[in-house]
Amino acid sequence: MLNDLAVKPPDPLLKIIKMFREDPRTDKIDLGVGVFRDDNGATPVMKAVKEAERRLVAEQPTKTYVGQQGDVEFQRLIGELTFGEQGRDFVSIQAVGGTGALRLGCDLLRDSGARRVLLPTPSWPNHPAIIRAARLEVVGAPFFDVATQQIDIDALIAGFAKAEKGDSIILQGCCHNPLGADFSRQQWEKLADGVMKHGLIPFIDLAYQGFGDGLEQDVEGARLFLSRVPHAIIALSGAKNFGLYRERVGALFVKAPAQTRAAVQSNLFAIARANYSMPPDHGASCVRLVLSDPALKQMWIEELDAIRGQMKKTRAALAAARINSIPMSRIGAQRGMFSTLPLEEAQIVRLREEFGVYMTDLARINIAGLPERDMERFLTALRAVTS
Ligand code: LMR
Repeated sequence: MLNDLAVKPPDPLLKIIKMFREDPRTDKIDLGVGVFRDDNGATPVMKAVKEAERRLVAEQPTKTYVGQQGDVEFQRLIGELTFGEQGRDFVSIQAVGGTGALRLGCDLLRDSGARRVLLPTPSWPNHPAIIRAARLEVVGAPFFDVATQQIDIDALIAGFAKAEKGDSIILQGCCHNPLGADFSRQQWEKLADGVMKHGLIPFIDLAYQGFGDGLEQDVEGARLFLSRVPHAIIALSGAKNFGLYRERVGALFVKAPAQTRAAVQSNLFAIARANYSMPPDHGASCVRLVLSDPALKQMWIEELDAIRGQMKKTRAALAAARINSIPMSRIGAQRGMFSTLPLEEAQIVRLREEFGVYMTDLARINIAGLPERDMERFLTALRAVTS
């Protein structure tokens, strides 16, 4: 029984937070977990969100349950933001963050008879755990060369043959975690042809809209893809672009033919009910208030533009640096919070122990966590371990 449980290894991402906290050095640099930090190293509540919170506290009439689907207006607004008009027919349910949405989607896949999920690798370290927790098999599909920082789309599509009809494939919508390398329009078109040929259910993980090139630009590829496929599952997160990390804001959307939507919706309700019953309200209410008030929405867009601007500036500084064996210009041209450096384990350990630079075990760096004042020290450390 409980005595038989073995100790699990720590989560590969969350353990970095702990290691960093426990490091007494004051000049350490945290490029671990994906949170945005401003020039002072703080992760402030966005002003538009703060204002929405004020209104909520003042005006929220009740704390009764939000219902099985969660906040329907939140889902309508966030769906419109991401999918435009085509999202109107999608089935949706509020989720406990983007992670919760991924889990709901995986449970739905399993209940629909899927057995495998193709996972283009490298991927977010929590993807395999979520897929396996839903009792699905993870099938890795290598698609990216970290040394050259390039996507191999043909290798990825060739990997589709490893799955059976009805299985799924996880595709990241934009600002890939951990690679920062996004699919072009042509690649999204090829992917749509590939999933249809092999009868796969695409599962799009879209957690960073607005962190790449802009709110609209970041979802152009995913929208094009979705317009071409009959079925799709999409996990959205409000953690990053609304800075609502700890409030666990997310939603799951499903594109399905009209005659199957009622079944999809009721299955999602049943999965959620047996897990956490109904979703939390606060973060989703904040997003609803921001998106439904033109002035607050504008304020939020400007704050998001500034966050993206800071990441672009950091990437430009990285692109200008010359580091042995690392194609810095490609890293500079990538999008979103993350990139993965071609480093060996010993180099990652040395960066941490000798220079106080923390990144994940697979050398993912959080661009949004690298303040300008630490850039030179970071580059010096990188030069030292690669020379
Ligand atoms: C990350 O990848 O660092 C974030 O998405 C945080 C998390 O939940 O892992």
